[in-house]
Amino acid sequence: RTQTVFGVGSTAARWMFIGEAPGAEEDRQGEPFVGRAGQLLTSMLKALGFAREDVYIANVLKCRPPGNRDPRPDEARCCRDYLDRQIELVAPALIVAIGRTAAQNLLATDMPLAKLRGTVHALGERRRPVLVTYHPAYLLRSPGEKRKAWQDLLLAREIVGRLERGET
Ligand code: URA
Repeated sequence: RTQTVFGVGSTAARWMFIGEAPGAEEDRQGEPFVGRAGQLLTSMLKALGFAREDVYIANVLKCRPPGNRDPRPDEARCCRDYLDRQIELVAPALIVAIGRTAAQNLLATDMPLAKLRGTVHALGERRRPVLVTYHPAYLLRSPGEKRKAWQDLLLAREIVGRLERGET
């Protein structure tokens, strides 16, 4: 990697998005989700009424794995304290885990993405709400699934709304 890619956005954000690891473009720019998949994520945020600056975006890994391979468990473990501290400091109302690898790492599970989507998971002692959705890189390959990803984001919006009204 050429540099660490730590995170970007508002530290007062109510929404936090957590992806897998920086890719080539992220490694070049030092910012998460700025490549092709990132541009799709940015468009999805816009459709929800958010600019990138309104949310907080980070990854499980802070460094690009060689050749974009999947993060290894020891690498995820190395970065975990940084991620946990980011979550603690931003203290978002809701975390959206982006894609299978991020979700499985974050939630320490090997459940498939299809099973992880659609329900609110509780993270850590504070039981922070986590929703899981498709990775935009997958949506670029399978545009037919975009509708389901949009449903995930609408569910996310409903949950944040409920939490902010003190209903949960
Ligand atoms: N994919 C990710 O999971 N994270 C990024 O930052 C970019 C692409």
